[in-house]
Amino acid sequence: MAGRKPKGVPAGSSRHSAMPQIPTTDVIDTRTSTGGNGSDYLIRHTTLRQLQLLEAIVRLGSFTRAAEELFLTQPTVSMQIKKLSEAIGAPLFRHVGRTIEPTDAGREVHAACRDILATLSNLEIKLADLKGLKRGRLRLGVLTTAKYVAPEILGAFCQVYPGIDVSLKVTNREHIHERLMGHDDDLYVMGQPRETNDQIQTIPFAPNPLVMVASVDHPLARQRSIPLNALAEESFILRESGSGIRDAVLTQFAAGGLIPRVRMQLGSNEAIKRAIVGGLGIAALSLHSLTLESAGGRLALLDVEGFPIIRRWHLVYSRSRELSLVARTFLDFAIDYEPEIRARLAEAEANFVRIRDSLIAQSS
Ligand code: PGA
Repeated sequence: MAGRKPKGVPAGSSRHSAMPQIPTTDVIDTRTSTGGNGSDYLIRHTTLRQLQLLEAIVRLGSFTRAAEELFLTQPTVSMQIKKLSEAIGAPLFRHVGRTIEPTDAGREVHAACRDILATLSNLEIKLADLKGLKRGRLRLGVLTTAKYVAPEILGAFCQVYPGIDVSLKVTNREHIHERLMGHDDDLYVMGQPRETNDQIQTIPFAPNPLVMVASVDHPLARQRSIPLNALAEESFILRESGSGIRDAVLTQFAAGGLIPRVRMQLGSNEAIKRAIVGGLGIAALSLHSLTLESAGGRLALLDVEGFPIIRRWHLVYSRSRELSLVARTFLDFAIDYEPEIRARLAEAEANFVRIRDSLIAQSS
């Protein structure tokens, strides 16, 4: 009879003692998919909390990280997933080496979870909105270069809407693209998406100039109008593969028939700045990552032919899911904020030009 609890389900394999216990079962219980009362079996035997847990485990690829995110202990998470697995009548995860991945059933449940949780989250916001409040959650994915402004915009946003929980994922172009395709976040600050189709909404946002940077002690910091080929003998520090900056630099050099002499590859704009100051070479960086240094410091912008490379950020989201009210509100807020970002860039550029002028004046 539908509604009865399926038979007990063995706990996860003990072969991986360091790994979380993954609840498994060989029993496929068809009561969950039969007609009649079967349709409310899951309603009576699963909880929204379990669905939220499953969503977090699939998204984060780990029981431990899901437990941390939701402020639960790992045994609680394992127990809840075991119960969910029993209600579904099939294992939801399997071990692959030292990682876990959802089974086919797990994937199906995950897809349903996301829809249910998104609907509830929107409902929460709509209800809060009716009360004149805005509550809910905003997941933002941004390029490494946008991490220099996104926290500030979020800070201003959260002052106006203090009830909103925010998560910010910072990563390179390649991974932002993957997150967009996987619907991992509500909204992205990124370059032009590779794919343009009517499922992807792209709104042009602030400029993202790519500038060539050296230590203030570097002889090129005292030169004007440096031809690109004069950089051919310089040691370059390049971002990691998957970085949009890296691609833009290599494309610019290739257009001049040049290949930069790469001394080192680093996966962080901050580490690159340190390496430049340490005399390890020169690099192209986003001007956004240099606004603090523009007030005076150890870095100088080089006046190189073809630079700055002017690119643009975009606010991007997938139309295949309804944009939450929070995300839409943030989108409008960010667009209103854009002039401040432009003003900061202009000020940073003017400061660097002043530094260059004074370096040139000192050396002549
Ligand atoms: P990324 O940033 O190098 O971290 O991918 C690219 C960009 O700012 O366009």
